[in-house]
Amino acid sequence: MATFLVTGSFGQVGSDLIPQLCKKYGKSSVIATDKYLPHADMPCEMQVVDVTDYKSILEISRERGVDCIIHLASILSALGEKNNDLAFSVNFTGTYNVLKVARELSMKMVIIPSTIGVFGADTPRENVPAITLTRPASIYGISKVFAEQISSYFSKKYGIDVRGLRLPGLISYSMPPSNGTTDYAVDMIIHAAKHKQYTCYLKENATLPMMYMPDAIKAILDIMSADRERLRYNLEYNVQAFSFSPKDLENELQKYLPDFRVSYVPDYRQEIAETWPRSLDISESIVDWNFNPSYDFSGMVRDMYEHLSMGDMGNE
Ligand SMILES: NC(=O)c1ccc[n+]([C@@H]2O[C@H](COP(=O)([O-])OP(=O)(O)OC[C@H]3O[C@@H](n4cnc5c(N)ncnc54)[C@H](O)[C@@H]3O)[C@@H](O)[C@H]2O)c1
Repeated sequence: MATFLVTGSFGQVGSDLIPQLCKKYGKSSVIATDKYLPHADMPCEMQVVDVTDYKSILEISRERGVDCIIHLASILSALGEKNNDLAFSVNFTGTYNVLKVARELSMKMVIIPSTIGVFGADTPRENVPAITLTRPASIYGISKVFAEQISSYFSKKYGIDVRGLRLPGLISYSMPPSNGTTDYAVDMIIHAAKHKQYTCYLKENATLPMMYMPDAIKAILDIMSADRERLRYNLEYNVQAFSFSPKDLENELQKYLPDFRVSYVPDYRQEIAETWPRSLDISESIVDWNFNPSYDFSGMVRDMYEHLSMGDMGNE
């Protein structure tokens, strides 16, 4: 039985992943950590671990016999542009620290999500393959290119099984998103569910790859249990369920609320979005580890709208 330490557990992904991890592997196998403890309860042990502090990750991992770290702690794209130093310390140093601890303790596996933020203006915009030019415009993207490259280095040089996937914009009702470029989608649905108009910070035609959170959690669990022999990459697996623009989402929400209107006032996040692809080639994820998302665009909007109309959001 593996013992998992999850960093950045109380963010958008961790809040949905931890309960599923506990369900699959047992509560006593999971240690949920973050820089701060949350107000809400978690179904497993919670500890404070700052990923910029190598010793604190090492000590708890050694004491508790951790053999897999799921490294979610990160500063996302929009906040990273506002605070480069913070993004550098959490995303570069934090990721390096996690890999060093895994090497020191000869861990079985490390999981690190990457992102569509690794792509840049030189990357093709449509059906982007896994291996392509990755010259991102944001410090967040640069830090994730670093994560991809250093993971591959640790895997080849030290034999550590590091796995991950390039998540697209994630949509979830259980936790508000924090400081990503694709957060508008959740915000827009929240506004519609409250019968409020919405002002979007991206242009109406800013089409981006996206996925519903239940499919993202399933994808993380699936790649964790995939046969290593079948995996040709470490973190470079593209995943997405659909692509849509803010206008597509506005139109879809009008099926539920015909009077719903969005105004478009692009800010600095539009510049980030313009360097990201509109769609990804996910064929290698399907072949190598059976990536198979369940929700299409309409199904996701219906489910989100129903949950948010019932007030199902952690907080705002
Ligand atoms: N949410 C998305 O749309 C999305 C898309 C692509 C990739 N990802 C990736 O998924 C992973 C999780 O993202 P998320 O959406 O949950 O992010 P989030 O911002 O919601 O959560 C990140 C968590 O990291 C924690 N954290 C920050 N600094 C820390 C530190 N020094 N030490 C320990 N914890 C710290 C925060 O407290 C927060 O709980 C990240 O690697 C992110 O790059 C997310």
